[in-house]
Amino acid sequence: MKIGFIDNAVAKNTKTQALVLLVGTDKKLSAAGQALNKQSGGAIAKAIATSKFSGKRGQNISVIMPQASKVERVLVIGTGEAKKITPATLENIGGSIVSFSNHAGVKDAVVLVESGDAGRIAHGAELRSYRFDKYFTKKTPEEKAALESLRFASGNAKLAEKSYAALKPLAEGVFLTRDLVSEPANIINPETLSERAVAELEKLGVEVEVLGEPEMYKLGFGALLGVGQGSANESKLVIMKYNGLGKGSKAAPIAFVGKGVTFDTGGISIKPAGGMEEMKWDMGGSGVVIGLMRTLAGRKAKVNAVGVVGLVENMPDGNAQRPGDVVTSYSGQTIEVLNTDAEGRLVLADALWYTQKHFKPKIIVDLATLTGAIIVALGTSRAGLFSNNDKLAEQIAKVGEKVDEPVWRLPLAEVYDKQINSDIADMQNIGKDREAGSITAAQFLQRFVNDVPWAHLDIAGVAWSKKDSDICPKGGTAYGVRLLNELVAEYYEGNK
Ligand code: BES
Ligand code: MN
Ligand code: ZN
Repeated sequence: MKIGFIDNAVAKNTKTQALVLLVGTDKKLSAAGQALNKQSGGAIAKAIATSKFSGKRGQNISVIMPQASKVERVLVIGTGEAKKITPATLENIGGSIVSFSNHAGVKDAVVLVESGDAGRIAHGAELRSYRFDKYFTKKTPEEKAALESLRFASGNAKLAEKSYAALKPLAEGVFLTRDLVSEPANIINPETLSERAVAELEKLGVEVEVLGEPEMYKLGFGALLGVGQGSANESKLVIMKYNGLGKGSKAAPIAFVGKGVTFDTGGISIKPAGGMEEMKWDMGGSGVVIGLMRTLAGRKAKVNAVGVVGLVENMPDGNAQRPGDVVTSYSGQTIEVLNTDAEGRLVLADALWYTQKHFKPKIIVDLATLTGAIIVALGTSRAGLFSNNDKLAEQIAKVGEKVDEPVWRLPLAEVYDKQINSDIADMQNIGKDREAGSITAAQFLQRFVNDVPWAHLDIAGVAWSKKDSDICPKGGTAYGVRLLNELVAEYYEGNK
């Protein structure tokens, strides 16, 4: 989909299939809206007055214009209460313009933006226009999506374009994550995922290092390697270094760590067949970290950042890890693997320890589709947040609300930590019973970070969506990219 910007004055004489009017809960038409209403012989005002349209977000009306008119139709889209409009709502409005236009079969539309940052609206439209359609061989491009061109008319096209361009690296990071998460596991495995990270990031100046099994074996990554040991695909650790403070900068980085289980069968503790296909997106945490690195490097963020992702495939096999096996993690701590399906924490254990030891980061944020229990607790609209540091937790919660990727903090405490003490090793990889499954998983991770401010985001409920949202079609959401990009921008760039 092409996105463009024009000045209001130009819009009047532009040929287009559809004009989009944004109308709030006051149901007032702008000056341009009133002119259009006249052209329509009063049909627009009448449609608004006689329908259920109240200007709320998500509402819309399509008005067919008279034969003589230059435009075929006018789409009226509700924007909600004017005083409640934030950058996030502007993005949502942009997204709903795309879905409604597609729905109405509109190929080319011009949006009349009376107030608010047209660049933001366009960014939302772009996010919603994402498609993962490479595997359709029979659909014509037109069947795939109607809308081909969207132009935004505002008082200052240059300014709008600038604001849109500044957000472009963010959209690119989000799209990269969605692409990686949507790919099936016969295409994305630890090796191909590591290759994608190299291909996408090195061109932006990110240094990417990939460790294979021999290197990790030498380092003593017993926890991560145990998970991948039943797979024909070699496990990898990908380390991405972005020095936004200058190549020679020695400033401690901020670090992002991701769970990258490219397919989670459960291993010998095998999962039931129904729904197992969903476990192709069990690499969602690593997908977010890779997309985030792309965004940070793409917008030349003034920060030193490292991303570390542990990539494995969890398969049952003659060589696979057994329930009851004891492994020695990179930290030296031993783990009794009571359930091979609680594999994400094993992968993260070594990735977290590596990150802490080699980079001495200012903060570590990890992301993982870690537990089904977080979906029971929070559903699919909020990620679970765990942290050993109130300040970091508050920062994450705040930016989460701001960008509409909200989180909810859950506790960490001694009583939960006790649950993972093992009878024969330093710890076991599941709790003694099924209680508080997301918390015991987070307690496990905490044993692999020392005093560094650390936060864990359990994104099992939000990494993938079965329904469309305003700015994201169903499928991989890239939940976390926009959140962490904002965290960096607000709190960790420059001298902050
Ligand atoms: N990848 C799953 C968690 C998951 C479940 C993500 C559903 C998305 C949707 C994880 O590896 C897992 O299997 N966790 C187990 C842990 C249990 C064995 C303690 C779970 O949640 O059932
Ligand atoms: Mn699992
Ligand atoms: Zn998993």
